[in-house]
Amino acid sequence: MLLLELLACGTNQDDSGTAGPTYYKDVRPILDQTCARCHNDNGISTSFDDPAVAQGLASTMQAYTQSGYMPPPAPTTDCRDYQASERYTLSDADKATLSAWADAGAPLGDVVSSDRDTSLEQLDHYDLELWASQPYTPTFTGADVNDYRCFLIDVNNTTEQWITAMQAEVDNTRIVHHVVLFLPDGVDDLYANGVEPHDGFACSGLGQGNWSTLGAWGPGDNPTVLPDGVGIPLPTNAQVILQMHYFDSFDGADHEQDQSGYGLQLADSVEREAANVAAGPTNFTIPADDPDYSAKKFYNWDNDSEILAVWPHMHLLGIGFDEWITHEDGTDECVMHMDAWDFHNQVTANFLTPADLGPGDKLHLECRYDNSAENPNQVNDPPQDVDVGEGTTDEMCFGFTMITSKQ
Ligand code: HEC
Repeated sequence: MLLLELLACGTNQDDSGTAGPTYYKDVRPILDQTCARCHNDNGISTSFDDPAVAQGLASTMQAYTQSGYMPPPAPTTDCRDYQASERYTLSDADKATLSAWADAGAPLGDVVSSDRDTSLEQLDHYDLELWASQPYTPTFTGADVNDYRCFLIDVNNTTEQWITAMQAEVDNTRIVHHVVLFLPDGVDDLYANGVEPHDGFACSGLGQGNWSTLGAWGPGDNPTVLPDGVGIPLPTNAQVILQMHYFDSFDGADHEQDQSGYGLQLADSVEREAANVAAGPTNFTIPADDPDYSAKKFYNWDNDSEILAVWPHMHLLGIGFDEWITHEDGTDECVMHMDAWDFHNQVTANFLTPADLGPGDKLHLECRYDNSAENPNQVNDPPQDVDVGEGTTDEMCFGFTMITSKQ
């Protein structure tokens, strides 16, 4: 309360004579920084660019931000800070400003023009774009509201190269629930039964044993940016697989088409190679009515490595995610912690300080789920046992973990 009072009387006496925060001067910059990546004209919810709209929603903003409902949960920064974390989490000071603004009747104040800085949400250039060869209209048959479609893409690179940054280019955000870029070890099997895999083919949502992961995207995700001198190898004349997970979200988008892709930044040489490891348990059942089920997995580590980034991935029932290292000496080190989960905000945390992972260490991963009737995202009435699987209403538990050898 003290903070609110300080803010209310201590800030911004602007020319219009309005004491306290105003839309243009104080609120808009916060909305642009933390909310506009979802709340924009093409986004997944109401744009706050129109001052009258923002004004009308001021008390909802206050309530949603005070309760922690908005912005949707992201990895906490007290575990390990990451690039642009200020865009994914709302500081107490900003929360107080939004609240004081609503309490003051949401004044607009003097007009200040604002250009939203999207540089951390969008790579400034691509060296290579990989697109599905043609648009695809997913088919959702009966109760099956998921459709997985894969496209084989020839990269046509004449020398070995390294991916230093990447970002999914999602065409139709209403039906795309994830995109994964795989590097298959051999493609002959894809031509079975007369299939031309470049034209698109039905595939498993969990990929295949001989496919390694280059990159992955889910709603709300941002670009993956590797540190200077680090890259993921892309062999000469690489062939990659773009995997699309389409989901019928029941909002009338089920006859729409999509043609998505991936944008890459490349280097001709790097000092260290990185790999994107799809870590996580792939065989578990969440019992019906269990309000706090944990799926866990750990890996014994045997070399000197660093963890650069993590993209956590669960479906609708998720309520928390942890990845941590138990060092050889028995001490635990936090890599990523989320004390809440929202399917619509799957953020890649590109860490400011990598986590050291050495010989004798264990890398742990834990996903938590609420499969009770009380979970607002529960889809089964009454709740049913939920297995690992490909559907949005099945579950997954992955920490796509970017690992490199230690410098
Ligand atoms: C990762 C995406 C995302 C971010 C970031 C985000 N929101 Fe939202 N927001 C949503 C979605 C999706 C909805 C619609 C679902 C709902 O209303 O429950 C929504 C709904 C809202 C609504 C209700 C809108 C309406 O038209 O009724 C308000 C108000 C809101 N958000 C405020 C905020 C504020 C303030 C921030 C930033 C501090 C923020 N949101 C950040 C995704 C986001």
